[in-house]
Amino acid sequence: MPQTPVKPASCPDGVGLIGRIKRFQQDMFASQPDRLYRAWMAETRTPFFHSYLINQPDLIDLVLKKRPEDFPKSAVIRDTLIKLLGNSVFVTNGEVWKQQRRIIDPAFEGGRLKDAFPAMRAAGLDAVERLAAGGEIEMEYETAHLTADVIFRTLFSIPIGDETATAVFTAFRDYQRSQPLWNLPGLLQMPKWVPRFRSNASNRAAMKIRGLLTGLVESRQKLIDAGTAPDDLATKIMTATDPETGRKFDGPEMVDQVAIFFLAGHETSASALSWALYLLAFDESVQNRLAAEVAGIDFSTIQFAQLKKLPFTRSVFRETLRLYPPVPMMVRQAQRDEHFRDRDVRKGSMVILSPWHLHRHERLWERPDEFDPDRWGTDAGKQCARDAYIPFSAGPRVCTGAGFGMAEGVLLLAMLVRHFRIEAIKGKDPVPVAYLTVRSRDGIWLRLIPRD
Ligand code: HEM
Repeated sequence: MPQTPVKPASCPDGVGLIGRIKRFQQDMFASQPDRLYRAWMAETRTPFFHSYLINQPDLIDLVLKKRPEDFPKSAVIRDTLIKLLGNSVFVTNGEVWKQQRRIIDPAFEGGRLKDAFPAMRAAGLDAVERLAAGGEIEMEYETAHLTADVIFRTLFSIPIGDETATAVFTAFRDYQRSQPLWNLPGLLQMPKWVPRFRSNASNRAAMKIRGLLTGLVESRQKLIDAGTAPDDLATKIMTATDPETGRKFDGPEMVDQVAIFFLAGHETSASALSWALYLLAFDESVQNRLAAEVAGIDFSTIQFAQLKKLPFTRSVFRETLRLYPPVPMMVRQAQRDEHFRDRDVRKGSMVILSPWHLHRHERLWERPDEFDPDRWGTDAGKQCARDAYIPFSAGPRVCTGAGFGMAEGVLLLAMLVRHFRIEAIKGKDPVPVAYLTVRSRDGIWLRLIPRD
């Protein structure tokens, strides 16, 4: 058994720009040099673009919290995801983005989380039943199925077994494997006329998903008009008005938002959950402690407030988000000339925030590559939680679903460990790669053994 859980191989020194671009096309991690785990800032200059990856906590604070308006989201992300996400809150900037958040945020406020809890519990119970026989299982598929179920129940009050929900889930799987994290011509800031090489498969899948989501939004609008709509997330957002302008989302705008809730809401949680299960298989003693914490719980009746009584499960989930942050990198664009450390950062440069490197930074974390859920109780861990831990980003653009994602992650992890012992399978160590989120090249295979 290795000492530390799996980490992707970095780019060796001496590989030139073309070599790095080629590696990037295969997998983003393979193009990143090892020094990013030690550097406070790293500059990449090419004839096409300048980018600055920053790991220094006060600079990250500046970009995300102090002056976020001077560092809007880069067009690279919009360019990559536009076919699926249109003008959704994930990709917009400025006034449009502010207005979208004013409509969306109230639906995710603390109290509302409780409303989503029964949907999370029901999806978890169904997953336990689906997996009841145990055996050698590819967990990335199962966790995606489970978290898609949570998001469908929360948004539209339908389970994953519903025909449309299944069709969206299947089309999304095609999309995610055919869509790189970033579109290379966009990343290189090539002119707009350079083709973006989106594969036909990715375009087809995006169109299909949007077609299905449009159907769901239209039928929901009819129920709202008739006064018979269920009180779920879709109804809340479709009937909410912007407190400043009184505007609501129209149909196509709502499809954009539903697309991002579906994508951000299930893909990230599925990635985190499958890596958490891998880590528990990797470290049996941690798994035993987690199993002891959840042993007496009846998950068929568990209530939202009981999550507070699962501090160790929470620490395991937090540690998973540190080692395998589902969103490994975020890109912003400098709106004016800046001076970072001893360097001039020109207007238009890309500023890259990398939870992946920050969370394993050798000058910030003790034993950065080790899986140690207890670190969150130490002074050093608490300090790092403030300075060097951004799995949900930070500042005004922080993930809208952060509270939702934490509650869901802790609940589902607890439920799965309550019902199954999880074991690694020899010769099937996962290899982290960056697709839309951090995934494993050939899936995460684990052995599930029913406990009772
Ligand atoms: C473990 C689970 C999750 C993780 C790690 C995660 C992580 C993130 C991160 C890092 C961002 C910022 C991306 C950027 O700035 O480029 C983000 C944004 C976002 N997330 Fe999440 N997320 C999770 C779950 C969810 C859930 C459950 C939802 C909704 C149901 C959601 C909805 C969103 C939305 C709408 C945004 C865009 C916010 C904006 O740009 O204003 N996420 N998420």
